[in-house]
Amino acid sequence: MASFLTRTKSIDLATTHDEHHRLKQTLSWPHLIAMGVGAIVGTGIYTLTGIAANLAGPGMIFSFLLCGVLVLTAALCYAEMATMVPASGSAYTYSYTALGETIAWIIGWALVLEYAVGAAAVASGWANHANEFMNGHGFGLPANLQSGLLSAAPITQLLEGHAHVDPTKALINLPAVFIVLLVTALLAAGTRESAILNIVLVAIKLAALLMFVVIAGQVFHPSYLHPIAPHGWGATAAANSDNKYGIVGAAGLVFFAFYGFDAVSTAAEETKNPKKDMTLGIVGSMFLCTVIYMGVALAALGAMYYTGWAGSGTPLVVILDFLKQPLAAQILTAAVIIALPSVILVLLFGQSRIFFVMSRDGLLPQGISRVNQKTGTPVGLTIATGVIVALVAGMVPLADIGVLANAGTLAAFIAVALSVIVLRLRQPNRERVFKVPLVWLVAPICVLGCAYLFVVGLPDLTHKLFLGWGALGLVIYLLYGAWRSKLARGEQN
Ligand code: ALA
Repeated sequence: MASFLTRTKSIDLATTHDEHHRLKQTLSWPHLIAMGVGAIVGTGIYTLTGIAANLAGPGMIFSFLLCGVLVLTAALCYAEMATMVPASGSAYTYSYTALGETIAWIIGWALVLEYAVGAAAVASGWANHANEFMNGHGFGLPANLQSGLLSAAPITQLLEGHAHVDPTKALINLPAVFIVLLVTALLAAGTRESAILNIVLVAIKLAALLMFVVIAGQVFHPSYLHPIAPHGWGATAAANSDNKYGIVGAAGLVFFAFYGFDAVSTAAEETKNPKKDMTLGIVGSMFLCTVIYMGVALAALGAMYYTGWAGSGTPLVVILDFLKQPLAAQILTAAVIIALPSVILVLLFGQSRIFFVMSRDGLLPQGISRVNQKTGTPVGLTIATGVIVALVAGMVPLADIGVLANAGTLAAFIAVALSVIVLRLRQPNRERVFKVPLVWLVAPICVLGCAYLFVVGLPDLTHKLFLGWGALGLVIYLLYGAWRSKLARGEQN
């Protein structure tokens, strides 16, 4: 019992693999920054901004600030771990070297929420824009193919039997399913090709946001920021919603908009020069995106009083229409439709690589980690992951899966900051290319801040779903991974 709870993987072992289970080293830092920006700026800013304004009013700017500071501390911890352990697997691999196999498995299991559920949430936000575009141009799909079966009411009400599903009104979100399968096909074709395409999509996305800031910034009304916190500074549950209101409650939702840089660390094994490329990739993309993100949010709040766009699934488009800029609104919608798939791409990439490494370690069946000789990527695994994500995206509404993805991500951030602390204590002399500045302040802030946001900011339903998911993972681990792991069987990796 004690051994599987405490056994850790040596860092040297984590970064050495046999030929058949080694990924090709094809990426460098510009690819990684593009991956980071591609993952960070997405559905959070284009869609969840509207839901957050509904939860916190103009005070959501402080929700963004809270999340930005937290994510900065996490990004610094990820950078130290990613350059010290330049192997695929992100928080899962870091935890394996520092916190032991059982915690590593739980974190790997939680990362499914961040990557797979997160990808489904982004696809759902993309589908909002795609549906609106098609409806506006006279070729909209039937209503029951625009929303999933579970979107009829808050999930708590469905579970309690207060609401019922009606397949003639909401059956499946077809555009969300379509976009996930398309991105899966790109990924299966090979990492390098999809990374280059990602750079083009990121450029389109940034240009559209810049356009929004320039237009909206010209009509900034400071008075629109008052009253600053109509729903208070904390987090309160409401009877008719799965979400929590108030600034911390909104932070529990908009946290989604800030992460994604950590997906870059899952590509560490595929970088040409891991130490330099990972440092620039993670910290650079984090700073760049936070600045852009805050600028867009402030411009939105100042351009139109928030009640006019709070709750909208396409808030930035609504604001541009209000400002009598229909062409800009159409350009922004088109940019979202073209570029948001880059977010799905990075998240799905991360998910397939997490499963890949877990299987290579023996915690999931070995066949999963087979690399296709032609593309140098785990093709079968990528396709299987994509199909499952497509089903979730097609069935479940955005806000519910957004906060669930946040729960997995917060757990991962806590584990990575703890890993930094543990390894600083246990292996103080190991070479660290990137060191967290003021580590004894930054790492504990990350741990405590993320724990606070998890407990206080996330809705009760999310806590329950997260615990249920964790319990399922633990059972699977005890039945399979605890006995089959390569460390358990004393095998080299
Ligand atoms: N941060 C990413 C987004 O907002 C996941 O879409």
